[in-house]
Amino acid sequence: MNKEQIREKIQQLREQLHHHNYMYYVLAQPEITDFEYDILLQDLLNLEHNNPEFFDPNSPSQRVGSDINKEFKQVTHKYPMLSLGNTYSIEEVTEFENRIKKALPDESIEYICELKYDGVAIGLTYKNGVLVQAVTRGDGAQGDDVTNNVKTIKSIPLRLRGNNFPDEFEIRGEIFLPHSSFEKMNDEKEAAGEQLFANPRNAAAGTLKLQKSSVVAKRPLDCYLYFVLGSKLPYNSHFENLMAAKSWGFKIPEHIAKCRNIEEIFNFINEWDIKRYDLPFDIDGVVIKVNSYQQQEELGFTAKTPRWAIAYKFKAEQARTKLLSVDFQVGRTGAITPVANLDPVLLAGTTVKRASLHNSDQIKLLNLHENDFVFVEKGGEIIPKIVGVDQNARALNTKPIEFITHCPECGSELIRVDGEAKHYCPNSNNCPPQIKGRMEHFVARKAMNIGGAEATIEALFDKGLIKDISDLYYLTKEQILLLDRFAEKSASNLIASIEESKKIPFQRVMFALGIRFVGETVAKTLANHFKSIENLKKASIEQLTQVHEIGERIASSLIEYFSDEKNIQIIEKLKNAGVQLQISQSEESSVIKKLDGKTFVISGTFEKHSRDELLDLQNLKK
Ligand code: IVH
Repeated sequence: MNKEQIREKIQQLREQLHHHNYMYYVLAQPEITDFEYDILLQDLLNLEHNNPEFFDPNSPSQRVGSDINKEFKQVTHKYPMLSLGNTYSIEEVTEFENRIKKALPDESIEYICELKYDGVAIGLTYKNGVLVQAVTRGDGAQGDDVTNNVKTIKSIPLRLRGNNFPDEFEIRGEIFLPHSSFEKMNDEKEAAGEQLFANPRNAAAGTLKLQKSSVVAKRPLDCYLYFVLGSKLPYNSHFENLMAAKSWGFKIPEHIAKCRNIEEIFNFINEWDIKRYDLPFDIDGVVIKVNSYQQQEELGFTAKTPRWAIAYKFKAEQARTKLLSVDFQVGRTGAITPVANLDPVLLAGTTVKRASLHNSDQIKLLNLHENDFVFVEKGGEIIPKIVGVDQNARALNTKPIEFITHCPECGSELIRVDGEAKHYCPNSNNCPPQIKGRMEHFVARKAMNIGGAEATIEALFDKGLIKDISDLYYLTKEQILLLDRFAEKSASNLIASIEESKKIPFQRVMFALGIRFVGETVAKTLANHFKSIENLKKASIEQLTQVHEIGERIASSLIEYFSDEKNIQIIEKLKNAGVQLQISQSEESSVIKKLDGKTFVISGTFEKHSRDELLDLQNLKK
């Protein structure tokens, strides 16, 4: 083929793939098999690879994603991205409709009812029929430019169909992850020993913020578009523009109704309050919008939300099922969490077998008895919670559920500090799930980021190769090779990853140590203030509580940690291995640099610092 023929062939393949994408992802009416599709795509990828001069950012091949790792650019929204007024009450929907009737007397009003998709809001800008930018909501005024990630979503057109679209417009919608993809993703995460996503919305948000679009491309995100904006739209009403957008290739809400009065609105709400469980994705309510742009304009906005639309939110779904037993789990900090095992029951699209009971107070409050019938509800967490007991269905002579007095794992007597909700197992150095949990926390991505170790910890521990976190740094390749599933290469990788973790800055090491109540933010504060673990070790309760945001609870936990000889030994071993236990020169200067070039006015009184201290801090940067 000569260059011209290649160009034509590439063009032809792109047209074909755009068409098949649309048939498959938007209309769900594929005309060719997946295999045939893959062949076309492979042909295109080969031709583009060998003829880079024909590169096009909107080629269907770009949906494969890239490995470039970069921070997202901040973009100011052309039209601010507002949210909607929310309500859980039908009466307030009536009030909404009454307000509108009053503001627009003698006018006939059309309402458009749509589903409220529970995902991540996105604004897509098209210029001359080509997707040029995709921006998240952010703070409503500015959001992240996630264009490369959004391009991997197959139902979002990179190039529009037909020719009657405006030169420039924005279309907004919701990116979401269908249930089936969410469950598959969490299964894979569980197998890899990674932390699970709490719900499909979090998973969609987390995926969209990934740096590598090639990873995003592997997660089947989807998107409904529900709002068109621009100065040259073809119609002067919402619904008609959505229909036009449909003809341009967008996936617009399938379940949408034009309503003329409150009864029709209620019908839509009631219908979807029931049918929502049959949908393959999450919705959390119904959105009601005034259709006419002219009427929208007359109604206007409050400070944050339009007066022409409202979101009615569904109440969380409950299910009733039988309590089978209660397990008591020991976390890495020794905290005991009671978890109920339930007769499996379907709730909001998934089967629920376990539910959290939080702590002993919660069990008392529920007055929970053996074999009780309980009500479970799904909040934003992975594990649903028990919200009530069907007291009428209690069998005779059942015993109340008693909280345990001794650790189910190591037998130590549990303690409960006054004012705290949780019971603890105090045997932190010898209680296996605490040791394992601390180690898993230590190697996690947000902590020391020792790749692949999370799933391996248990095996290393069970084989007696590591007894605490510091032992990781003294492992040899030969020892790792003793584990099942490890070969030369994977063992070397693990060793390299452990070696690499010695560069992790002190503030993250502080977090990785897993001291009770020392989360990421507190760890940062402590590292920046005390500069080294040596200084922190020497600090008294008073010195600790003088630091902004460090209270009694955190301070006592630190004192307790450093008073344990075992922890001092671990720290020594980490230090000898070369782990960062003090703030580095560059970090120190970057803390100071943040203040560079800024002028501070210091006036009034301060809770944690004297005025002189603050003035000193200013001089520090000079
Ligand atoms: S319309 C100015 N329609 O809900 C009105 N929003 O609380 C623009 N949402 O930020 C939004 N489904 O992320 C609209 N069918 C729908 C929606 C929807 C979900 C989200 C959206 C918005 C939030 C408002």
